[in-house]
Amino acid sequence: MVNEDPVVRLDDVRREFGDTAALDGVSLDILAGEAVAVMGPSGSGKSTLLNMVAGLDRASAGSVTVLGEKLDTMSEGALARYRRRRIGMVFQFFNLLDDLPVLENVALSARLIGTSAKKARVRALDLLDELGVADRARAYPAVLSGGERQRVGVARALMNRPALLLADEPTGALDTRNGEQVMDLLLDLNQIGQTLLMVTHDQRLADHCASRSVELVDGRIVRERALDRSRA
Ligand SMILES: Nc1ncnc2c1ncn2[C@@H]1O[C@H](COP(=O)(O)OP(=O)(O)OP(=O)(O)O)[C@@H](O)[C@H]1O
Ligand SMILES: [Mg+2]
Repeated sequence: MVNEDPVVRLDDVRREFGDTAALDGVSLDILAGEAVAVMGPSGSGKSTLLNMVAGLDRASAGSVTVLGEKLDTMSEGALARYRRRRIGMVFQFFNLLDDLPVLENVALSARLIGTSAKKARVRALDLLDELGVADRARAYPAVLSGGERQRVGVARALMNRPALLLADEPTGALDTRNGEQVMDLLLDLNQIGQTLLMVTHDQRLADHCASRSVELVDGRIVRERALDRSRA
C-alpha cells in the first residue's frame, strides 16, 4: 500500500517574536517525493518556517508534524535525536568544521548516532565519491571552493539517510557555475526519491529543482504553484 501520509504537515502555525508574527497561520503539507521551494521577500518568514520543520524552533500556536512525529510536544532531547536521525540540513554558509578534514566532517553525522568509525568513513567516502568530491576527502574545508564545500555539506546532510532534506539558501553563497552544480545535485537527489524542502530567493533554483513553490509574504502563504521542471 502506498503511504499517503504527508512527510511534513504544518497546521495553522504561528510564530511570534514580540509584536512580530514571523509566521501568521501557515498550513502546508509536503508529500513524499516532492521538492518544495519556499520563496518570498526578506523577512517574510522563510527561515522561521524551515526552523520549525527542523525542530530548531517551536511554534507559538498550531502544530508541526514531520514523519508522523509531532514536534510541538517533543522534549529538547527528542528533538535533537530527531534532527540527527530523521532530517538532513544544508546551509547557505556550509557550516563545516574547519578543524576537521572533509571526510571527518561528513563521517561525524553518523558517529553522532553511534555508527562505528570505520563504517562511518566508508559511507562518507562513498557519498563524497557520488557527489564528485572524493579527491578532497583529506583536505580541510578552508582550501575548498564554495561549490566543493557545498557538495561536502550535502554529503554530510545525506549521511544518515534522512527521509527529509532541508536547505536554506543552498546556492546563496555560490557563484553562478557552482550554484548550477548544486542545483543539478539537488534535482538529481529529488529524482531518485529524496523529499526536499528548500528556502530560496533564487527563482532559477526553484524553477530548476522544485516540483512546487510556495510564496510567503508577511508570514502568510500568498501563492502556491506547481512547477514543470522539464522546461527549466
Ligand atoms: N530570533 C528572532 N528574534 C526576533 N525576531 C526574529 C527572529 N527570527 C526572525 N525574526 C523576525 O521574523 C521575521 C521573519 O524572519 P525570517 O528570518 O524567517 O525571514 P526570511 O524570510 O528568512 O528572510 P531572509 O530572506 O532575509 O533570510 C522577520 O521580521 C524577523 O526580523
Ligand atoms: Mg532567511
